[in-house]
Amino acid sequence: MAALNAPLFASQENLHVINSMINTSHRSPMLLGDVLPWDEMIDRSAPPKLASTSWIYGTKYWEQLTEAQRLEVLWLENARDVSFFIQLEQFLPPMYMSYLTAFGAALAPEIEEYMMIFAKEEIVHTQMFRRYLEKANLPNFVIPQRPGFAHVMHTLEHSPRSLPPIVGVMWTLVLEWAAELNAVHCTQVDGIEPITKQMFWAHHIDEVRHITFGRRLCEDYFTSKSVEELTPIRNLFKPAIGDVLEEFKYTEQISDLTSFEFPIHKTDLAAIRAVRASENNTRLNAVRFKEIIDWLTRLDLMPERIVPLGMEPVSSTIN
Ligand SMILES: [Fe+2]
Ligand SMILES: [Fe+2]
Repeated sequence: MAALNAPLFASQENLHVINSMINTSHRSPMLLGDVLPWDEMIDRSAPPKLASTSWIYGTKYWEQLTEAQRLEVLWLENARDVSFFIQLEQFLPPMYMSYLTAFGAALAPEIEEYMMIFAKEEIVHTQMFRRYLEKANLPNFVIPQRPGFAHVMHTLEHSPRSLPPIVGVMWTLVLEWAAELNAVHCTQVDGIEPITKQMFWAHHIDEVRHITFGRRLCEDYFTSKSVEELTPIRNLFKPAIGDVLEEFKYTEQISDLTSFEFPIHKTDLAAIRAVRASENNTRLNAVRFKEIIDWLTRLDLMPERIVPLGMEPVSSTIN
């Protein structure tokens, strides 16, 4: 293990893996102009995600909708997923660059180099997602400020170096791994609108490397540190993990955005909680998030119980 007292570190084996990812990234960078056929139309008559992955599929609310309304709901849910990527990924480059300016010289050269690539790739991803929303005429959703989630996000955004940098690496990993598992589960099947499907796959190719980087660094950190050193990190993450996984089941802002009256009012907390707890949503989270839940459990980062999300104010869309 290289320099255990460094702010971030990795085993020789993992440095070797990072080095090979550096080479792959430099050989095949995503180019915004080429990544999607931007001169072609996004076909809003085709579904952007599998109907059975809708937040309300299998509930009485889904049954009430016409086929056209169901399609509109699927497009808005897809817009939420893209919006979350935008808001997460535009937050990462400043955080990673702030780590590098503070202690880049203390890191293994492979870690320093890969964090720069990581930041650069997220900027291009953000540009791609923004251009896609605009081209598809979709809104940019706001990430609701749930308490556990907001606490970690706010701290990392406003004073990233007040916490050990492994916290920033791990928070990034948790958010983008969950978002990736969700996106691939919802879209990489037959019958999905082709540009949407292609976009999520192009993103996934870069993200597999980002997830590998985060996992390797976190695993080495958790293997090397004492229980006493890990306890504050576990205490910070456990309340936030539930917020992240539950958010994928439903975001109440959709009620403001449909062209018809959405069957669930945005302040109807009982209905929203019932939808989040639906059989289909419970099954979806168990299936799509199995890999990350197993990993978090192994590192003792999963809460014993996921607390149902409360109601937070929903502001208008941002662009
Ligand atoms: Fe990304
Ligand atoms: Fe990423």
